[in-house]
Amino acid sequence: MADTGRHHTDAPAPPAPASSARREETPSGTEKPDSTPILELRSLTRVHGSGVATVHALRGINLTVGAGELVAVMGPSGSGKSTLLTLAGGLDTATSGQVLVEGVDLGSLSRAELARVRRNRVGYVFQDYNLIPALTAVENVSLPRELDGVSSRAARREALAALEEIGLVEVADRFPDEMSGGQQQRVAIARALVGDRRLVLADEPTGALDSETGETVLALLRSRCDAGAAGVMVTHEPRFAAWADRVIFLRDGSVVDEAAGSGPESLLPTEAVR
Ligand SMILES: Nc1ncnc2c1ncn2[C@@H]1O[C@H](COP(=O)(O)OP(=O)(O)O)[C@@H](O)[C@H]1O
Ligand SMILES: [Mg+2]
Repeated sequence: MADTGRHHTDAPAPPAPASSARREETPSGTEKPDSTPILELRSLTRVHGSGVATVHALRGINLTVGAGELVAVMGPSGSGKSTLLTLAGGLDTATSGQVLVEGVDLGSLSRAELARVRRNRVGYVFQDYNLIPALTAVENVSLPRELDGVSSRAARREALAALEEIGLVEVADRFPDEMSGGQQQRVAIARALVGDRRLVLADEPTGALDSETGETVLALLRSRCDAGAAGVMVTHEPRFAAWADRVIFLRDGSVVDEAAGSGPESLLPTEAVR
């Protein structure tokens, strides 16, 4: 309620990528640093194609995700989950409505400004990993930081720290085709978390993982959100959605239900629980 005197980031000026701004320095993971939501979707629609081929992938989505929050998105195949994530990450353009990241309307940005937001503020875990085959694990993870202008040495150091955090430092010098699917997915997650991104978007990040590794990945997303990021994660697994603060359900491009994430068993119709 009371603004504790922290600044508001109204302008799209990206923060200086000071490597000293490490997340360990966050004094308390629970305090909300700013009242501006990290992600806000306003009446968001996305229409593909035209005429008889028209597909309404999203029909007027409203969603606000604040610092510290992890939101799970569930829904049947084709309901618009991936479309929601790509729009939130500035990887696709809305047909109408707005996407605001830390108060900045992505639709108001030039292509270059949008690219900066994607690199500096958004970590994205793709459904199919999208690791670059010709780069090793540590090179894949350090690439976004190098694109930010961080020196190769510093980027490599950060990437190794991110791989260590996810328990994968031993595959640092392997290429994607020398890793298991689960290892590739975790490298993709390390790439999304490196560099203190405030918005982490993950499309079925646990799809290729055994349940134990899946829990590890969720714990990482959860702790990043607890440290002040906002997360949106698509998942089919109620077990993983249980890590979220809220679960939203999509059907045919609309939010049909929303519930607290305090154990998704409570969201299911009672006959489905047994
Ligand atoms: N590039 C595209 N061109 C045409 N239709 C698309 C495109 N991308 C997604 N769609 C359609 O939009 C709807 C939502 O897709 P998607 O967001 O991928 O759903 P989900 O991730 O929930 O499975 C689907 O009907 C899908 O076929
Ligand atoms: Mg999808």
